Amino acid sequence: MTNESIAICPGSFDPITKGHLDIIQRASKLFDKVIVLVLVNFAKTPSFNTEERIELIKKATQGIQNVEVDFYDGLLAKYAQEKEAKCLVKGLRAVSDFEYEFQQALANKILNPELETLFLNTSSEFMYLSSSVVKQIASLGGDISHFVTKNTLQDIQNRLCKGE
Ligand code: PNS
Repeated sequence: MTNESIAICPGSFDPITKGHLDIIQRASKLFDKVIVLVLVNFAKTPSFNTEERIELIKKATQGIQNVEVDFYDGLLAKYAQEKEAKCLVKGLRAVSDFEYEFQQALANKILNPELETLFLNTSSEFMYLSSSVVKQIASLGGDISHFVTKNTLQDIQNRLCKGE
């Protein structure tokens, strides 16, 4: 049994944005350790493969001491149990996020009654931001430098920009 407080920031991270990073940074101040966990979302077909998403998260979270990055292709509730993580941390952008997130939190609680879900409100500057927005803008040759970190910009652009 660990005495460390461990939280998980779960998601598809396809790719990681400054909005995700904001939540991860804030979670890292609340817990001893934060695991940024790439999972399979059965409703989505990712644009970036698992290795690419992990690499981008590692780059974006460089410098946050208590953050680890991992991938799991099973149930989030089970992973949390194995890692003795007691809390999931998720960002809520708007009311439209709530129903989906609430459903997931309730399902995870049934699967793992020890597990709490903590919602952090997204910082106002990232209210509109999502991985899909980033992908759409980059694919059409637009500037995504406001939305992703400096050290992931080139990699994301190269993968998504038309003709590259
Ligand atoms: O960033 P996303 O796509 O909104 O994240 C959703 C994710 C990946 C956290 C969710 O689909 C998930 O937890 N997948 C793992 C499988 C699982 O445990 N499903 C049950 C949750 S209801």
